[in-house]
Amino acid sequence: MRILILMGSPRVNGNTAELCKPFLEELKMIGADTRYVTLAGKDIRPCLGCYTCQDIQGEYGCIQHDDMYPIIEDILWADIIVLACPIYSWYCPTLMKSVLDRHYGLNKFYGSATGSLWAGKKLALLLTHGYDREYACTPFETGIRNLCDHSSLKYIGMYSVRDIDNKAAMQTREAVEGAKEFARKITGEAK
Ligand SMILES: Cc1cc2nc3c(=O)[nH]c(=O)nc-3n(C[C@H](O)[C@H](O)[C@H](O)COP(=O)(O)O)c2cc1C
Repeated sequence: MRILILMGSPRVNGNTAELCKPFLEELKMIGADTRYVTLAGKDIRPCLGCYTCQDIQGEYGCIQHDDMYPIIEDILWADIIVLACPIYSWYCPTLMKSVLDRHYGLNKFYGSATGSLWAGKKLALLLTHGYDREYACTPFETGIRNLCDHSSLKYIGMYSVRDIDNKAAMQTREAVEGAKEFARKITGEAK
């Protein structure tokens, strides 16, 4: 089982990265093949909305040859894609939003090309946030559920921890065990 974690916090050693540690550890214990990709520092430009990708059959087809291409390779490799990020302004940080918008070339819905390059894959969320879970995460989770629905991906759930006192909040027994349990849950769903 191949699991891609896209870590979208600008803080590469921040709260989200801390929460990813027990999650990754458990995935490795289970025997999953994992890739952990940090978006910070990468050149992932915003979608231009040019629709060129919609006329290119069978491949991603984006005209912007930046760091999104290796990420697309990772996405195509994975059975499960985990978006790990903090909530920023009720959604996600900018680079993660660019990745989400740049999914366009994977769905050939609006031009002469047809089909999907990633239908059937599974997607999960691992989030950190300052407000309480429901108030903080519902808009992003709803957007991701809808994206999955639209793209014929299977949304397999969210685990999140509230940032009360920075990294310490990610190191509590509850947070660590929760992240591990979530790793077991998503791998169980994928069987
Ligand atoms: C620019 C910015 C925007 C934020 N927006 C929200 C928000 O809308 N809702 C929320 O609950 N927390 C928000 N937070 C708090 C972060 O989600 C929280 O501190 C998170 O754990 C940071 O994770 P990191 O250390 O991995 O970056 C925001 C933080 C920053 C820096």
